[in-house]
Amino acid sequence: MTEPAIEVTGVHKAYGTQTVLDGIDLRVEPGSVFALLGPNGAGKTTLITILSTLVQPDAGTVTVAGHDLATDADGIRRAISVTGQAAAVDGVLTGEENLRMMARLSGFSAAESQRRAAELIDRFDLADAARKRVATYSGGMRRRLDLTLSLVATPPVIFLDEPTTGLDTRSRQTLWDMIQELARRGTTILLTTQYLEEADQLADRIAVLDHGVIVAEGTAAELKAQVGGEVVELRDARGEIVRELPTDGSVDALRTAIDELDALRVPDGSIGIRKPSLDDAFLALTGQSSSTAAEIEKEAVR
Ligand SMILES: Nc1ncnc2c1ncn2[C@@H]1O[C@H](COP(=O)(O)OP(=O)(O)OP(=O)(O)O)[C@@H](O)[C@H]1O
Ligand SMILES: [Mg+2]
Repeated sequence: MTEPAIEVTGVHKAYGTQTVLDGIDLRVEPGSVFALLGPNGAGKTTLITILSTLVQPDAGTVTVAGHDLATDADGIRRAISVTGQAAAVDGVLTGEENLRMMARLSGFSAAESQRRAAELIDRFDLADAARKRVATYSGGMRRRLDLTLSLVATPPVIFLDEPTTGLDTRSRQTLWDMIQELARRGTTILLTTQYLEEADQLADRIAVLDHGVIVAEGTAAELKAQVGGEVVELRDARGEIVRELPTDGSVDALRTAIDELDALRVPDGSIGIRKPSLDDAFLALTGQSSSTAAEIEKEAVR
């Protein structure tokens, strides 16, 4: 077995009397994308701040890129970059100037910094934006620059705290592409998200965090499989879902579900059978309704 890029064992964290992380165990393979999926207040940011050495856990051990948090926090800091909601970008400078400044701060010479900035601008298709002051950027462009800035020194491990929250579909897709490109080049990425779709599309493995506890962990397919068999759904004449019934996939269960939905006598309704989604898994695992997840989606596009 290769040495994990990130290993977390028994991490606890409380603020006053409130337990925020209650025994977290995680193992992230090098070069993989790992998603920490959870609702508001689950403890995602708290775990990221611990892994990035900004906050001490009350108990447990953490190693990142082979460095132990308790004895070598400096080593971790050198091996990571963190992009959060409030990345340090200077709005007065252009995108390119920000990249060059970050390169200088990371120890590159002036000439190397110029080369590094040009390379990143090219790789991430930022040519137009690079000449403009960051203060004039849209949210999506700003987020792309944030991510690019975190790559100036190409650290082996990157933490992204809700990298696409509030972005439109197109910007989100661009960011996903950037993240996948990084993973292909061997960078390990731990990201947090409230979006089931993001975890589903992007992550090799997903841990579902709820109230400070990891309630499930696996690939998207494994999490979906935990929910059981097919879901039977009833749609009305406009195609809107009226009711969904999870089943264990057996013929008897499917027949019972279909009968139950048929008995609702929805005019011009139609009944379909589908595989469980990550949304169904999330509902089953956290007890949080899928409508809440849909609300979060709506919130984000506003
Ligand atoms: N510095 C702090 N002092 C006191 N309580 C805190 C602190 N930081 C976080 N908390 C509490 O810990 C819990 C988890 O917060 P955290 O920010 O880690 O959640 P999250 O999963 O990142 O949520 P969100 O999706 O809203 O970003 C919350 O109840 C929060 O109020
Ligand atoms: Mg958070």
